[in-house]
Amino acid sequence: MKILITGSNGMTGQKIIYVCHGKSNIQLIATSKGANRTQLKDGYIYESLDITNESEVEAIFKKHQPDAVINTAAFTNVDACETKRGECKKLNVEAVEYLIKSCEKYNAHLIHLSTDFVFNGENGPYIETDTPEPQSYYAQSKYDSEQLLIKSKIKWTIIRTIIIYGVVDDNSRSNLVLWVKNNLEKKQKINVISDQFRSPTLAEDLAGACINAALKKATGIYHVSGKELMSIIDIAKIVADFFGLDASHINSVTSAQLNQPAKRPPVTGFILTKAKHDLDYHPKSFLEGLNLIKSQLEKF
Ligand SMILES: NC(=O)c1ccc[n+]([C@@H]2O[C@H](COP(=O)([O-])OP(=O)(O)OC[C@H]3O[C@@H](n4cnc5c(N)ncnc54)[C@H](OP(=O)(O)O)[C@@H]3O)[C@@H](O)[C@H]2O)c1
Repeated sequence: MKILITGSNGMTGQKIIYVCHGKSNIQLIATSKGANRTQLKDGYIYESLDITNESEVEAIFKKHQPDAVINTAAFTNVDACETKRGECKKLNVEAVEYLIKSCEKYNAHLIHLSTDFVFNGENGPYIETDTPEPQSYYAQSKYDSEQLLIKSKIKWTIIRTIIIYGVVDDNSRSNLVLWVKNNLEKKQKINVISDQFRSPTLAEDLAGACINAALKKATGIYHVSGKELMSIIDIAKIVADFFGLDASHINSVTSAQLNQPAKRPPVTGFILTKAKHDLDYHPKSFLEGLNLIKSQLEKF
């Protein structure tokens, strides 16, 4: 199967490259904006692709004619989306329209990443059939992109996920786990939210689910996350404990006290039954994920 991914320099994109490596049943075309920053360079084709450029999207589809496309590219800074609304809409919504158009023309299956933030967070954990109610511009943009797929004529899959954690090759991208670890190592105080609950998702697990959706031709909406639902402050304390760092630098704050630009849902988390059944999705525990990260960080 010929699989094309977008945003291959990002967290999920890089992990998809590694998950596909050595799989003889997959021919991978990795694309991202600018040069290839994934260390592994063999076993796949890399093309520079800005998905907000409609003619570039069309040209890449024409050249490679993929069977499946996994769209990991997105404007993922939730607070920045509040102020940079035009940029957010261009990447998270309009570019998805271009991908859908090309998927329709070349009969490709589109697998699109979305978020737990489409829900209002009042009734988590959520199942795929629960009704979304986005609370921020980012969340609305991801919801709008979901609607484009749902209303399209193409074969589509929406994979919603929650707080992705992992290590990218150049260690250039942060996430909750690395942010906590890096700050506590420098003995810096951090304010961590006590009244929001999430199920952190190991990037490798998510990448595997995306590939399985393509290989199994699974269509529809899927919830893919870690299996433990924890408060964000408890996640931070587990990270501190795991890496032997001083948790007294973690300062507990409420969402109201932190007052972030974008409103967040209080409790998300997913019911994973459908993904387990259809995508053979069996996520690692949070501690297993931290062990993997620890071994990856030893390379730097
Ligand atoms: N991160 C989370 O915790 C989280 C939680 C829930 C859902 N999600 C969703 O999961 C998906 C993957 O997230 P992620 O954290 O893996 O993303 P990420 O690490 O931010 O990676 C996104 C990639 O897209 C690339 N990109 C940016 N603009 C582009 C453009 N115009 N054309 C092509 N590529 C472009 C970025 O390039 P540069 O590296 O050059 O900037 C980056 O490599 C997204 O749809 C996101 O909304 C993420």
